[in-house]
Amino acid sequence: MATTAAKAFPWLESLQRSLDNNPDPTSRWPSLATINAKTQPTARIVAFRGFVKDHIDEAAQKNINPAILNSIIFTTDARSAKIEELQQRRDAALCWYFQDTREQHRFQGTMRIVAGPEWEWREKELSGWNDCGVDWEEVRRAEYAKMSPTMKATFTHPPPKSPLLANTAYEAALTDTASPAQHAAALKNFALLVFKVHEADRLDLRPQPYLRELGGSREGSEEWESAEVCP
Ligand SMILES: Cc1cc2nc3c(=O)[nH]c(=O)nc-3n(C[C@H](O)[C@H](O)[C@H](O)COP(=O)(O)O)c2cc1C
Repeated sequence: MATTAAKAFPWLESLQRSLDNNPDPTSRWPSLATINAKTQPTARIVAFRGFVKDHIDEAAQKNINPAILNSIIFTTDARSAKIEELQQRRDAALCWYFQDTREQHRFQGTMRIVAGPEWEWREKELSGWNDCGVDWEEVRRAEYAKMSPTMKATFTHPPPKSPLLANTAYEAALTDTASPAQHAAALKNFALLVFKVHEADRLDLRPQPYLRELGGSREGSEEWESAEVCP
């Protein structure tokens, strides 16, 4: 990809600008694609929860790999199908539409799963990221704390895709007055998905002709190159 220094495409600032300029809640719901065991693509909507750097003091950020700091956080149930898919293959893609500014952001990258200590596969998922300067368990607990009582309760329900049982009282809400055991049960199934961007593609439908910007880092390099291209 040709480097166009004068018209650099810094994906993070660009995405942040879109988030700031599109206050509608739907602007925080990208689609996340993964690959299943049959090598078929699967996609679902997930809620954007912020960036890893949001959890790190400014002084401490200097000692952490910027690609990790700028990684995007999602949350999920550790028992969901996407977890198994990501364990098989870390490659993932995001596609995001911002209606007010008529922009599409697409990203390709890799996803790390940050699960609770109860899961025997936790360490493998974090290999290479354990000593990167981020306390992943602290981040996971902080994100759990931000969940609504209704969302917290869903993590105590039977695993996704298990039969919906009639006449069964599923926990409706886990408030702060719920027992520590109830919160521990929910936290066990609460996982973070941390998406590291390798390639970005922004399409802006406002100018004529439309503007498409590509950015990416070469294999094994952290250096970002970008170009403006025909849509
Ligand atoms: C608006 C909206 C937001 C959602 N946010 C999330 C989310 O943040 N995390 C998540 O795991 N699923 C979220 N879901 C549900 C997923 O789209 C999906 O149905 C679920 O995660 C199961 O996917 P899987 O079987 O591919 O793992 C959301 C769905 C909608 C419609």
